[in-house]
Amino acid sequence: MTISNFSTIEELNATVAAILIEAVRHNPKTVLGLSTGNSPIGVYELLIQDHIQNGTSYKYVTTFNLDEYEGLDGSSEQSYRFFMDKYLFNHLDIDKSNTHIPSGMGDLEAGCRTYDEKIKNAGGIDIQLIGIGTNGHIAFNEPGTPFNSRTHIAELSEETIMANSKNFLSMKDIPKRAVTMGIQSIMEAKQIVMVAFGKNKAKAIQEMIDGPITAKLPASILQQHPVFSVYLDTEAASSLGN
Ligand code: GLP
Repeated sequence: MTISNFSTIEELNATVAAILIEAVRHNPKTVLGLSTGNSPIGVYELLIQDHIQNGTSYKYVTTFNLDEYEGLDGSSEQSYRFFMDKYLFNHLDIDKSNTHIPSGMGDLEAGCRTYDEKIKNAGGIDIQLIGIGTNGHIAFNEPGTPFNSRTHIAELSEETIMANSKNFLSMKDIPKRAVTMGIQSIMEAKQIVMVAFGKNKAKAIQEMIDGPITAKLPASILQQHPVFSVYLDTEAASSLGN
């Protein structure tokens, strides 16, 4: 594991965006694992800027997103499909049919079974961009999720529902379940890049890096990933070494 701290989020975003851009320029058929939430938005802005200014092409890139809420499709502004189109895909030359997001609609179990298969058929994820929840969840793998889990239906914890409630008009609109890549699915990515900033991430980051590997903190398993790098701002890094 490598840990990098930045005094500004701008520097952090620029460093992470450069890793992704370099990968795509080196291998135009890169398979990217992508995530939603606040954390990756600045990185996505830089990918778009680079695409416009330098012409980096995503024509042959394939993407797999980590998760999606139950009951929301791409027409819903709160869906992760809507988010990805809005913040990234609509602004690149990517072929939308190569952008994969777990389906929150229809037969969820069947969708789960085929998602890992699709990743495998694409040759596996080259680089997975990931965030972390305040309780140490990754994607929607909440505390207690087995490390050997694959894409599955997840019950969201109260903490996660609260943290994500800012994106919904009222509490009753927030889905209580989601479809998420499992921890094993994530661990199979060849490289994992985590972005975390802000004081509210400090405790989860400290436990992920310095604490024991335990299902109580799903992100702690990332300690065992051979190519895992963590990019933090000063606040997210503020509890390290304590
Ligand atoms: C959600 C997503 C996670 C994300 C987390 C943190 O729960 N399922 O993939 O990492 O939120 O989001 P943010 O970056 O907004 O703090």
